[in-house]
Amino acid sequence: MTDKELMELLQSMSLEEKVGQLVQVTGDALGENGQITGPLGSMKLNDEDKANLGSILAINGAEKLIALQDKQMAQQPHHIPMLFMCDVINGFQTIFPIPLAQGASFDPEETSKCASIAAMEASAAGVHVTFSPMLDLCRDARWGRVMESPGEDAYLNSCMARAMVEGYQGTGKHGPVDREHLAATVKHFAAYGRPEGGRDYDTVELSERTLREDYLPAYAAAVDAGARLVMTSFNTLNRVPSTGNRWLMRDILRGEMNFDGVLISDYSAAEEMVNHGIAEDLSEATRLAMAAGLDIDMVSNCYVHHLADLVRKGDISEKDLDEAVLRVLRLKNDLGLFENPYKAACPEKEREITLCPEFRQEARISAEKSFVLLKNEESCLPLAQNESVAFIGPYAMNHEIFGTWSVPADAESTATIRQAIETMGISNATFCQGSFLMDNDQRNRFGQTFAQDIDQAEKWLEEAKAAAADSDKVVLCVGEMNSQSGECGSRATLRIPECQQHLIEEIAKVNSNIIVVLFTGRPLETKEITKYAKSLVVVWFPGTEGGSAIADVLYGISEPGGRLPMTFPRTATQEPIYYNQLPTGRPNPSGHDLPFLNGYIDEETTPEYCFGQGMTYTTFSYSKPEISGRTLKKGGKATLSVTVKNTGKRKGTETVQLYIHDIAASVSRPQKMLKGFRKITLDPGESASVQFEITEEMLRFYDINMQYVSEPGKFDAYVGGSSLCQDKVSFTLE
Ligand code: BGC
Repeated sequence: MTDKELMELLQSMSLEEKVGQLVQVTGDALGENGQITGPLGSMKLNDEDKANLGSILAINGAEKLIALQDKQMAQQPHHIPMLFMCDVINGFQTIFPIPLAQGASFDPEETSKCASIAAMEASAAGVHVTFSPMLDLCRDARWGRVMESPGEDAYLNSCMARAMVEGYQGTGKHGPVDREHLAATVKHFAAYGRPEGGRDYDTVELSERTLREDYLPAYAAAVDAGARLVMTSFNTLNRVPSTGNRWLMRDILRGEMNFDGVLISDYSAAEEMVNHGIAEDLSEATRLAMAAGLDIDMVSNCYVHHLADLVRKGDISEKDLDEAVLRVLRLKNDLGLFENPYKAACPEKEREITLCPEFRQEARISAEKSFVLLKNEESCLPLAQNESVAFIGPYAMNHEIFGTWSVPADAESTATIRQAIETMGISNATFCQGSFLMDNDQRNRFGQTFAQDIDQAEKWLEEAKAAAADSDKVVLCVGEMNSQSGECGSRATLRIPECQQHLIEEIAKVNSNIIVVLFTGRPLETKEITKYAKSLVVVWFPGTEGGSAIADVLYGISEPGGRLPMTFPRTATQEPIYYNQLPTGRPNPSGHDLPFLNGYIDEETTPEYCFGQGMTYTTFSYSKPEISGRTLKKGGKATLSVTVKNTGKRKGTETVQLYIHDIAASVSRPQKMLKGFRKITLDPGESASVQFEITEEMLRFYDINMQYVSEPGKFDAYVGGSSLCQDKVSFTLE
C-alpha cells in the first residue's frame, strides 16, 4: 500500500477498530493454544474486541496461523491482517547457544547467521515479529535474565545488537522485511538489567550519565541498525515505570535515537503501573502510556477497555491515537501483509527447512565458538580417543540444554553428550547419571520443586564412582538447571545444586583427572568446582547441537572459542561485579589485608574470572603495543599495532581485545573500557600483526556538563587476551 492508501484506511476506521490495532493478546484469548509467557490475567474480551484485534503473541505454526489469519480477516471490518509475534530468542526450532553464550563468542558475524536462520524458520512457521534482541546490559549474575543478554559490556553488546538486527531483518534498513526475515524488537527499554539485588522486576536507580554511557548504547545501536519495534521494560527507572516514561520514550527513544517504529509494552506492563503506584486505576495507566507514546499494549486491560473512552472524553487526542495506529499499519505494510497476509507461512517450507542439516551445522559451530575454557591443568583437555573416559552427571544424557526461551523447540531434537560421543565412534566411554539435577525441594523459576529419591541418588552415586575409578579421566557434566535462569529466575546463591557438588567431591576421591563441563545461564561460583577439577569449560546452554559441539571440543576436533562476556564472582555476595568499574580513592590491587583500602575484610575484591577471559588449546604471546602517533588531534586517528604469536603446538584462535583508560577527566572514568576486538587464527609458531584504529570519537563520554565530548589529556590503550591485560601504550589527546 502507498502511504496515501494507508492514510485513507486509517481515516475510514472506527474508533474501536483503531484501538483494536493497539491491543495484543495471547492465543488463549481467541481460544487458541499458545505459550503463556507472563502471569495469567483475565482479559475479558467481547466479540467486537476480538474481531478488532491487531496482533497476537506467542503462537506459531504455518497451518494454524494461516487459518487464524483467514478467520480474523473475515471478522475485521476492513479485513486488516493481524501481526503474529513470538519470542524467537536463540533460535526457533534449531536452537543456538543462549544470547549470553553468543556474547561469549565475541563473534557478531556468527550471531548474525544464527539470527537469520531463526528468522527463516520462524517466518516459514508464520511468525512476523520476534521479541529479540534483548540488549539489557547486566552486571549482576543473580538476575535470572542475564542469560538473554550479550553480557556486561556496552561495546560488545552494541556489536551484538547490530548483528542480531541485521540477521533477523536483513540489511535493508528501511525497505520491506522480506519473506525470509522477521521484524526485530529491541528490549527491554530501558535498563531492565539493573534491578536492585538482582531481583527480577525490581527497582532501577541509575544516574543519567551511567544510563546514557553504559545502558543505552546497545539499544541505540539496534535502533540505528533499523529495528522496527522497541519494547518497554517492566522496571521503574529513577521511579518512573518505563511504560509511562515520557522522557525515556518520547525524548530519548524517538527524539534522540530517531526511532520511528512501533513501541510495544512488555507483558501487562501498562496495567502494572497501578502496582507501581503511579496510576490510580487502569484508565489513568492508559493515559500515561499513551502520553509516553506507547503504541501496542501487550496483554493488559488498559487500551482494550479504556482507550476509546479516553479519546471520546478528549483526555487523549485523536491525533495521538492516529499516530500510534498508523505506526502499526505501517509495520504491517512493511511486512507486506496487505498484499500477502500469510507472509512466509508455508507448511511445506516449514517442514523442509526446520532443523535441516545446514541449520544444525551452524548451531554446532556457534556452540563451539561460545564455550569458555577457564582452567586446563596438565593439558587434561583435549581428550585422546584411546583414553578411557567416564562421562558422569545429570547433563551427560540430558536433552534439556536450550535455555528457557526455546519454547517451540522439541527437546528430543537435541543430541545429548552421550549420543554425540557414541556417534563419534568413541568406544571406551561410559555414561552415568551420577546425581539428580536439583536438590530436594530446590525451586526453579516456575516455582516447581524436585523431590529426590534417596535410594536412587545413592545407587547413581555408587555406579558413578565405580565408573570413575575404572577410567583414565572423568568428565563431569554438571550445572544449573535449564529453568533456574531466565525470567523470574533470580537467585541469591550462585552455586551449582548441592547434590551435584557432592557428586564432584565423591568422584574426586576415586579419580583426580576431573574435567568439568559446566552448564549455566549465568556466571556461577566455581571455586568449589575447580578445587577438584583440572579443567573447567563453561558451555552455557548450548542448544540443539550442544552435545555434538561439546564432544568436538572435548576431543579436540575443535577448540573452545569463547571468552567471558560477564565476570564470574568468587561469591554471590560480590555482586554486582564487573570489569569496568570506576576507580576508587583507595584502590586495593594487592589484596584484602590492608586497612583503609577499598574492599571486603572477608573476601578478595577481585573476581574469580574476569570479563574477556578464556583459554584455547594453544598459547599466544603479545609484543608490546605500538602506536602510530603519541599525539591525537581532535577529529584525528592513530593506529595501534601489536604482534600476536601462537606459541603452542596447535592451531588456535585468539580474541585480541583493546581497552582504553582515560587517565583524568572532568568525571571519573572506568579503569578500562573495551573499544575493539579481533579474532585471529594462527598456526603453531605463526605470528601476525593486529591493528586497531584509535579515533577521537572513541574517547568521548558524558562530561561534567553532560555533553558527549572528548577531553584533552592522557590515555592508556591496553591490548591483550582479556580485560586483565597489562601491556599498554600511552598517548595524548590534544
Ligand atoms: C518478557 C518479554 C517477552 C514477553 C512476551 C515478558 O514476560 O519480559 O521479554 O518478550 O513476555 O513473551
